Amino acid sequence: MTAPFGRRAVTISARETHGAYVVIRGHDPHGPAPRPGQFYMLQAAERWGGGDGERPFLPRAFSALRAHENELQFMIEDVGPGTNRLCELEPGDELLLVGPLGNGFTHPRDGREPLLVGGGVGIAPLAIWQDELGAGTKALLGFRDRPHAAGAGLLHDPVVATDDGSVGHHGLVTDLLDEELGDHIEVYACGPPAMLEAVRASCVERAVPAQLALESGMACGFGACFGCVVPTVDGYVRLCLDGPVLEASRLGTAVAYAGAGQ
Ligand SMILES: Cc1cc2nc3c(=O)[nH]c(=O)nc-3n(C[C@H](O)[C@H](O)[C@H](O)COP(=O)(O)OP(=O)(O)OC[C@H]3O[C@@H](n4cnc5c(N)ncnc54)[C@H](O)[C@@H]3O)c2cc1C
Ligand code: FES
Repeated sequence: MTAPFGRRAVTISARETHGAYVVIRGHDPHGPAPRPGQFYMLQAAERWGGGDGERPFLPRAFSALRAHENELQFMIEDVGPGTNRLCELEPGDELLLVGPLGNGFTHPRDGREPLLVGGGVGIAPLAIWQDELGAGTKALLGFRDRPHAAGAGLLHDPVVATDDGSVGHHGLVTDLLDEELGDHIEVYACGPPAMLEAVRASCVERAVPAQLALESGMACGFGACFGCVVPTVDGYVRLCLDGPVLEASRLGTAVAYAGAGQ
């Protein structure tokens, strides 16, 4: 799906908190619907840098969390000045967006069953993908602690792991992965670099196809700045155009170096 030229203004219609995460919603009647795994470049219409004492911001990249009848939802973790400002937005405030951008996930091959594996705010693109695949699609989700695990409620019936054992399995989400892998599975994963590298290595070892949604620093989001390049076995690619979803088999051991992580 190609994004329409230019930025669009979207009025925030709702803001929710899910533990450590904020979800903002708004209607985008003039944009095409996103494919699961696609992303948008977002910025607040007001107080997005440039004023006295404010740092000028480039827009930031965010996966579509959910899209339904022109309503877009984004899941945000406050990790810096851009996400902090987006987390402050209230109903009635304006968001500027460009998108949908990037490629998105593709349906499982050869009749395989999809298995979703997410870590932290990396669960965002898996929610819209589960909406399309069906609520019964199995999801393994990992978080650092209970406040972050509250984000698991954004997917249907996930199996949860936490680093501190406060919710679900005590340990890494990838501890749960091995027993699920088999000839009948295709994996879809998004999360921090160490998690994605563990998913990649397990899937390659077991010859299970896997589509990984990566992250890298993005300045433009549409191929102009080359700020988002990541290494693959075929050379460097721009993650905003060729990704953010890449086949695990294209990555070699590059996930660890690609700056992926949510
Ligand atoms: C394709 C794509 C999809 C994304 N989807 C989402 C999404 O759905 N929700 C979301 O919240 N973010 C998402 N991100 C990540 C988000 O774009 C970045 O975290 C962004 O840089 C944050 O901007 P900032 O100004 O708040 O922080 P920055 O100024 O960019 O970073 C501030 C500090 O926080 C650190 N930092 C940045 N990101 C993280 C992180 N995730 N965890 C821990 N520390 C971090 C940086 O290293 C830096 O030290 C996505 C990124 C990409 C490329
Ligand atoms: S973000 Fe500018 S080329 Fe990818």
